[in-house]
Amino acid sequence: MKLTTSTASPTGLNVDALVVVAHDQGLSGSAKQVDQAMGGLLERLIASGELSTKTGKTFSIYSPTGISAKLLIVCGGGSIAELNVMEVTRMAGAAAKRLADRSRQSVGLALDVSAELTTAAVSAVINGGVGQDLLRAEKNFKTADEWIFLTPHDASGKHGQIVGESMLLVRELVNLPPNLLTPSTFTERAVAMCNQCGIEIEVWDELRLRKERCGSLLGVASGSQTPPRLLIMRYAGKQAKPAVALVGKGVTFDSGGLSIKPTDGMLTMKCDMAGAATVLGTLRAAALLGLEQPIVGLVGLVENMISGSAFRLGDVLTARSGTTIEIHNTDAEGRLVLADVLNVALEQQPECIIDLATLTGACVVALGVDIAGLMTNDAQLQQRFQSAAERAGELVWPLPMHRFFDDQISSQVADIKNVGDGRWGGATTAAKFLERFVDKKPWLHIDIAGPAFADKPKPHQDAGATAAMLRSLIEFLDN
Ligand code: BES
Ligand code: MN
Ligand code: ZN
Repeated sequence: MKLTTSTASPTGLNVDALVVVAHDQGLSGSAKQVDQAMGGLLERLIASGELSTKTGKTFSIYSPTGISAKLLIVCGGGSIAELNVMEVTRMAGAAAKRLADRSRQSVGLALDVSAELTTAAVSAVINGGVGQDLLRAEKNFKTADEWIFLTPHDASGKHGQIVGESMLLVRELVNLPPNLLTPSTFTERAVAMCNQCGIEIEVWDELRLRKERCGSLLGVASGSQTPPRLLIMRYAGKQAKPAVALVGKGVTFDSGGLSIKPTDGMLTMKCDMAGAATVLGTLRAAALLGLEQPIVGLVGLVENMISGSAFRLGDVLTARSGTTIEIHNTDAEGRLVLADVLNVALEQQPECIIDLATLTGACVVALGVDIAGLMTNDAQLQQRFQSAAERAGELVWPLPMHRFFDDQISSQVADIKNVGDGRWGGATTAAKFLERFVDKKPWLHIDIAGPAFADKPKPHQDAGATAAMLRSLIEFLDN
């Protein structure tokens, strides 16, 4: 997809479609120019109530007279005073999603927003125009060949394009079905991305994982025909200082294992590698943006399956750290994978560790499908991430980590067990388990079980993978 910025006039722009924005407070900027060229039609449509200025609404005018575009899309921008990253994302994404109904050569966008909001608008447009229909011959979403942003903020546009296209990578990997996206094909994609972006990559195969005594991760992988992988990716950054470690859960399919999931819960479990995909996408964006901060990305890739060689309830696994883990539920597999990956992350001597995982249904029960849960051993790190998420227009919320939860994961036969007592506080007991493997290093756990994958489409983006938290991570790393 080609994306350019231009400072041409919206009325004379010769494109298949032109997008302008109408705010609650009345027309201004490009929308006003277009309205005047069209003899005040837009004002009349608003006055009559036909054209809504609500964010996410779009109104189409075919072969408009007075302007050069063949189709005019007026998208609702809500209140201009409340315009922020989240609102702009919704309005720009909705316009792009609306325009994806058929093939178009060129689309012009005149959104008249600040530099900061231009970044958000560009990544939203890129993502609004692409769907989860990867394997459909007849695509539901037909992405325009060329997008022309009418804006003076050229650098913000470039930034937004890198972020937006990195989100597309995350969404593609998560949306790919679990028969096609396995630990080995994920690895191929990671190697290709790293080579393109100047990132160093180390691949641990099954043999190496055994040599490294990753018994916890290997326990989960043991039921699958597809061997596991662990990837270590290093982006050097522009400054000699300790790296931020990004750790991702990469369960390419979670059947639940012997503690098998019911059909409904299993159907979308291709999304269980969203954490790993987000680490990959974030590294890509960081490298192409040339961020100062060095980053080391680590992902554990396994498939949680059932067979004669699958791990059992009552098994005791020995993690790489030496900690022994009694298995009470094979569906609590993400924490077992992360236990070993976090241990490898510590060896990289990072400044801090941030892990991303579709870890618990309990987090979705607590916060709903749109908000990621934050759990930490370092309040300041969490605070820094919360403000980055705020700037990125993404929703996060802290969950408790009180010491008394530790009792719940103690075991009679091993050092710890892999679930709490009963299901209450399940997001926290999972995080408490992870905490045992970070050895007091500043660490933030982000449970993305809710926001990583959308069951229903949104006005600004198709259903399926969302690339949640990538923009927040880039904001965090860029500061
Ligand atoms: N991958 C799931 C969590 C999940 C649920 C992700 C819904 C996305 C949407 C995870 O491996 C899991 O199965 N967790 C169990 C833990 C339980 C057995 C302690 C859960 O949440 O039920
Ligand atoms: Mn599971
Ligand atoms: Zn899982």
